[in-house]
Amino acid sequence: MSDIGFGVIGLGRMGTLHAQHLGGMITGGRLVAGAVDPRDLEGLRARQDFAYPVVGSVEELLANPEVEAVVIASPTSVHDEHIRLAAAQRMPIFCEKPLADSVARAAAAVQGVEQTGVPFQIGFHRRFDEGYARARDHIQEGQIGEPELFRGITADHIPPFEYLRTSGGLFWDLGVHDFDAARFLMDDDVVAVHAAGAIKVEPRLAEIRDIDYGVTTLRFRKGSLGVVQNSWRAPWGCEIRAEVCGSKGRVVTEQDERVFTRLYTEEGIIGERHQRFLERFREAYRRELQAFVDAVHSGVAPSPGPQDGLKAIQVSEAATVSSRENRWVDIDP
Ligand SMILES: NC(=O)c1ccc[n+]([C@@H]2O[C@H](COP(=O)([O-])OP(=O)(O)OC[C@H]3O[C@@H](n4cnc5c(N)ncnc54)[C@H](O)[C@@H]3O)[C@@H](O)[C@H]2O)c1
Repeated sequence: MSDIGFGVIGLGRMGTLHAQHLGGMITGGRLVAGAVDPRDLEGLRARQDFAYPVVGSVEELLANPEVEAVVIASPTSVHDEHIRLAAAQRMPIFCEKPLADSVARAAAAVQGVEQTGVPFQIGFHRRFDEGYARARDHIQEGQIGEPELFRGITADHIPPFEYLRTSGGLFWDLGVHDFDAARFLMDDDVVAVHAAGAIKVEPRLAEIRDIDYGVTTLRFRKGSLGVVQNSWRAPWGCEIRAEVCGSKGRVVTEQDERVFTRLYTEEGIIGERHQRFLERFREAYRRELQAFVDAVHSGVAPSPGPQDGLKAIQVSEAATVSSRENRWVDIDP
């Protein structure tokens, strides 16, 4: 079967990474074109020589006869629009998380995807990380008994304020990874949340009703509980962790050390931690795209799919409302 020609929409941090992977590290898929915000086009071309056409319009990208599928890595606020355009052209879609910056917009985009039946995968790369995948296997095999409590932590360096403006907010941009990991590991849906937020890092977040610290309590359908901690503060390096406590044991996944070497001296213990999530999950990002390409070639529905994308941001939205109104918020099934 011939390689699928990919157009990458958005060539910032994530789009560049996916483009690199499609430039020879993915079997069955290859990069044929890119699209960026027209305001970025000139500057980008001046900084970099591209071996493929890069245009300033998604419509133009989709009209390229070599483009057969898309990776959407544009800002969250335009994901729904780009999903609609690609679905209208019957193109398989790999879309970065979160699905959109509102549940209503995401639901409309999902409806379009499901009506056209195009293959769709949402970019929850942690499901493809060896540690998260192994933790789920242990739980599924019954090694920890009945899962009773989920604990998730993501602390990272704060992105530029301009990025945060279109990100949806802390519970959408960062929390969504933990909310999906909670669903993935607990094999259950979140039905209610209570959340609190604070601003400690970037005072301007108040202008856009965002926060940089958030703690969310989760209640799952089967009665189990969860706690998720998120923050845009991590001078000690990325802190990314998940744990499930069960009736017979518990399973933890974390991999903070970049190099598995510790230097022990009189001053203490020195090690090298991951400072960048792109580095921490490099292989998971490649694997998620490979899984998408394999699914499209074999005709099976890619996973995690549109409903996973939607369910995770229902938790994000509920957490946002809860933190603003200081009350439990139920999630509409
Ligand atoms: N999976 C992860 O771990 C992860 C990590 C970071 C970001 N993300 C997600 O990836 C997406 C992109 O984030 P980023 O950090 O790469 O952003 P970025 O700001 O670095 O890059 C955004 C890119 O989108 C382009 N763009 C903007 N508007 C556009 C439009 N209308 N049409 C076409 N292109 C447009 C810009 O020119 C730029 O190339 C976001 O949804 C974000 O939530 C995911």
